[in-house]
Amino acid sequence: MTTPEAFINPLYVTQPLLPNLGETYRMIEAIWQSKQLSNNGQMVQQLEKELAGFLGVKYLSVLCNGTAALQIACKALDLTGEVITTPFTFSATTHSLAWNNLKPVFCDIEEDTFNINPDLIEALITQETSAILPVHVFGNPCNVEKIQQIADKHGLKVLYDAAHAFGVKLHGKPIGTFGDISMFSFHATKVYHTIEGGGLSCNQAYLKERIDSLRNFGQRDDTFPEPGTNAKLNEVQAGIGLLVLKKIEDEIKKRKKLTNLYRQLLSDIPGITLNRDIAGVTPNYSYFVIRVEPEEFGLNRDQLFLKLQEYNIISRKYFFPLCSNFQCYSILPSASKSNLPVANRVADRVLTLPLHGRLQDTDVLKICEIIKKIRQEHITSKLTGERTR
Ligand SMILES: Cc1ncc(COP(=O)(O)O)c(C=O)c1O
Repeated sequence: MTTPEAFINPLYVTQPLLPNLGETYRMIEAIWQSKQLSNNGQMVQQLEKELAGFLGVKYLSVLCNGTAALQIACKALDLTGEVITTPFTFSATTHSLAWNNLKPVFCDIEEDTFNINPDLIEALITQETSAILPVHVFGNPCNVEKIQQIADKHGLKVLYDAAHAFGVKLHGKPIGTFGDISMFSFHATKVYHTIEGGGLSCNQAYLKERIDSLRNFGQRDDTFPEPGTNAKLNEVQAGIGLLVLKKIEDEIKKRKKLTNLYRQLLSDIPGITLNRDIAGVTPNYSYFVIRVEPEEFGLNRDQLFLKLQEYNIISRKYFFPLCSNFQCYSILPSASKSNLPVANRVADRVLTLPLHGRLQDTDVLKICEIIKKIRQEHITSKLTGERTR
């Protein structure tokens, strides 16, 4: 085996997709000439049109970030009481419920997709339940059919956190068309971004109108039928979003190639399982995720995480800690570890490796060699230790 050296510069899990600088100057020049920097200007209107087309959704509203978008979606759907959700997600999913005075009820996840387990949802429904908030984790679609059946049976709303699922399709159907509302995050760490930003897609005109009013202080013409907030996207960020959109297909193509290379190189390592393409899904290759089984691999996930840092590979423990184990939620009855065995196991084992369109094949090759070397060195030192004992 070769002995790879550490990377000279840190290799992060992602790097933003940057538009061409010349095009960016020209876009800013156009905004300067328009003298409109915010308040539903030309760029925002154009972006909503183009994104609705790209995502294949009927209605789309852009907002200042995904978290504010989720908070507004809860209001737009008139959610009350309890909402059944997954603990295996980014903090913003659960926080959006808490910020609306809604009680998160945690449901365990599936071992293979890391998504909410629909077979466990019904047992959590009470008189107080108003909705289900599932997350398409790492862009893998949830079991949307089963979730909708449960929602219809019990008269619940479905709000999807599709923060990771930009451009994903399920059996050819765009991911943002499922449920009542879907939220996309356009944060710079995401496969598509507007620096900071978010989107809400829905199938009904009245919801789009309500979302648009709620993001703009609750104003409708000159009236204020309900209190809103300020969650508007500005013109410069919308302009960036238009330029990034031009490059997204190429970005996803590059990520697909690198993902396949990772899969080829890591497929035969004992104790490492990889995320695979799922039948019927058009993926967006937003993350490259491995699961580390400590008994077979030799090291546990946290040890591998630290070892990779020594080589300047900055992996991420998405999602650790679990939302249900946050101090602010751990007192909830549904947050108990016995209620969430799969989520707790997965959160201790999953690691996200660098993946973005600026990464070279040679980088992936080296990362995989380093992972193999780390394991080999660990096994050798363990054997040597045992022999000298
Ligand atoms: C699953 C999930 N939900 C919500 C969010 C919040 O999105 P934003 O960062 O755009 O507020 C994120 C993003 O980081 C996320 O990963």
